[in-house]
Amino acid sequence: MTRLFSGIQPSGELHIGNFLGAIHNWVELQNTYEAIYCVVDLHALSGDFDPAILSERTLTMARHLLACGIDPDKSVLFVQGHVPEHAELMWIFCSVTPIGELERMTQFKDKSARQLSINTGLLIYPVLQAADILLYKGEVVPVGEDQVQHLELTREIARKFNTRFGPTFPEPASRLSTAKRIVGLDGQAKMSKSLGNTIGIIESPESMWDKLRPAFTDPARQRKSDPGEPTRCNIFTLHGYFTPAENQNEIASACRGATIGCFDCKKILHKNMSDRFEPIRQREAELQSKPGYVVDVLEAGASAARSIARQTVGEVREKMGMLPCQTAGGD
Ligand code: TRP
Repeated sequence: MTRLFSGIQPSGELHIGNFLGAIHNWVELQNTYEAIYCVVDLHALSGDFDPAILSERTLTMARHLLACGIDPDKSVLFVQGHVPEHAELMWIFCSVTPIGELERMTQFKDKSARQLSINTGLLIYPVLQAADILLYKGEVVPVGEDQVQHLELTREIARKFNTRFGPTFPEPASRLSTAKRIVGLDGQAKMSKSLGNTIGIIESPESMWDKLRPAFTDPARQRKSDPGEPTRCNIFTLHGYFTPAENQNEIASACRGATIGCFDCKKILHKNMSDRFEPIRQREAELQSKPGYVVDVLEAGASAARSIARQTVGEVREKMGMLPCQTAGGD
């Protein structure tokens, strides 16, 4: 089976943007690939993070992934910081990564423009990402569009390493999800926790409604009698993911003909969306009641990941001509 790797930041709660753009896909892909999924706590250190809640957020993210259907019998789920080889391989990759490539990464430029003091982690973030994937010789990487550039760099790092030290790594391909970019409830920017425009997947139906009710729609619809254009409305886009196709058509013509108001349109979406997440919400509650289980899954995942990681780093060290140490890395 082809090996697949992907990672997600420990942002705490999963929201529907994460779910539609990535996790829904992850759950499907574990049936056809040898999947390795990672909560990337080391990456989180390059941004704003609160030491008081980092571990809780990491655990919550893992619990939500399991609630969504990541199955430890099918795939490996682990926490990046539990496998020190990620950091080691990153350092090694720094030696084949041109600094100019890092400086021109769109995500680096965006993030560094918003900060007064820019830490080195922000710059070498994509090198750590390349190490994540190549440590496991991952060939397929499900990511959102915003990560495609980082995957190009990953392939370049693999190529540069292979050219200099001999064939070692595959050149991994990105696999885009069909839901490309989920726009937040403000109707403006990508759904993202830092922008506060999200709906969490395990929120109660009431809380989902509190967020949907004021959500941005087609600005042409000031009154119910104003005809709308569904393709301009983010609520209609969301119907595309939660509402059966035939009802979508009805809603679209009712919007164009001004026979349905935004309030009722949102009510339908709310019903379909909260029904869809009900089983996930229940599983999450069950998992909350047995926190030891989630910890055990992550421990077993780290152990499986570590045994692959050690092999790769052993091979890399040898190819680079480093002096071996008999006592290092043993258990
Ligand atoms: N940078 C990715 C993101 O923000 C997360 C990530 C880290 C990742 N390591 C990875 C994704 C390896 C895919 C593969 O979405």
